Amino acid sequence: MRFAGKNVLVTGAASGIGRAIAILFAREGARVTIGDINAAGLAEAAAMIGDTATPVVYDAEDHASCRALVDAAAREGLDVVCNVAGMLKWGPTEDFAVADFERLLRINTTSVFVICKAALPYLLKSRGNIVNIGSTSGLRGMIYTAGYCASKHAVVGMTTALAAEYAARGVRVNAVCPGHVDTPMTRQTPPSGDLDWDMIRRGMPKLVDGSCAPKDIAEAVAFLASEQARKATGSVLVVDGGQLVS
Ligand SMILES: NC(=O)c1ccc[n+]([C@@H]2O[C@H](COP(=O)([O-])OP(=O)(O)OC[C@H]3O[C@@H](n4cnc5c(N)ncnc54)[C@H](O)[C@@H]3O)[C@@H](O)[C@H]2O)c1
Repeated sequence: MRFAGKNVLVTGAASGIGRAIAILFAREGARVTIGDINAAGLAEAAAMIGDTATPVVYDAEDHASCRALVDAAAREGLDVVCNVAGMLKWGPTEDFAVADFERLLRINTTSVFVICKAALPYLLKSRGNIVNIGSTSGLRGMIYTAGYCASKHAVVGMTTALAAEYAARGVRVNAVCPGHVDTPMTRQTPPSGDLDWDMIRRGMPKLVDGSCAPKDIAEAVAFLASEQARKATGSVLVVDGGQLVS
């Protein structure tokens, strides 16, 4: 019960990693505000958690909607913010629309900034913390993902910058960088065209049974958000089954 009495906000909680994080925090005693654009998935997640979950539909692309989500989560104070909502679109760069590049940045990066900014006044009061979901694509360039990689490198940079800025005021900011996790995001159909699959496969996990499930990422997030990690800020924890080891 590491989060008994704590108020936690989890974005992207209708599905995949965000849902697993919300379930884990609730199981460990937290009241969770769960945000997502997918109302049906959010209702499903809320039903799985029970009455300690408050679902709030929001759109990460809309700044006012992000701020309203934070205010709803902080009605009785706010202790932890997990920025998980995100999108993946990939494909050869010559065919990649600038509009899609910009949308990746709005959803994966700008919304994280808007939510952190809105949450900081509450977190300064509670001496709370933030855990952002980056990616191995936030640490290394991956083929066909210039937009996604840019958006996630920015999340990692923002995490360490905020950690430096707020450490002296008692707010911790960390990130978890997952490798490939089995979720709806990674089950999408690949873009059409002539893709270099050998290059794509180079980044496979090297650990025996290294493929990750949402729960593996949730455990890392909960650790960083907990008292056990009270000395950790600016940490970027890679959980990728050894994808980045060479
Ligand atoms: N699955 C992976 O392999 C993997 C690897 C590294 C990082 N990540 C990151 O983990 C996070 C969660 O991804 P996931 O794999 O669970 O995927 P997912 O598609 O299952 O979940 C993403 C959630 O974000 C929500 N979302 C998307 N756009 C939104 C918007 N405009 N407003 C509000 N919510 C929105 C979706 O509705 C969805 O519920 C993302 O940030 C993703 O980039 C995933």
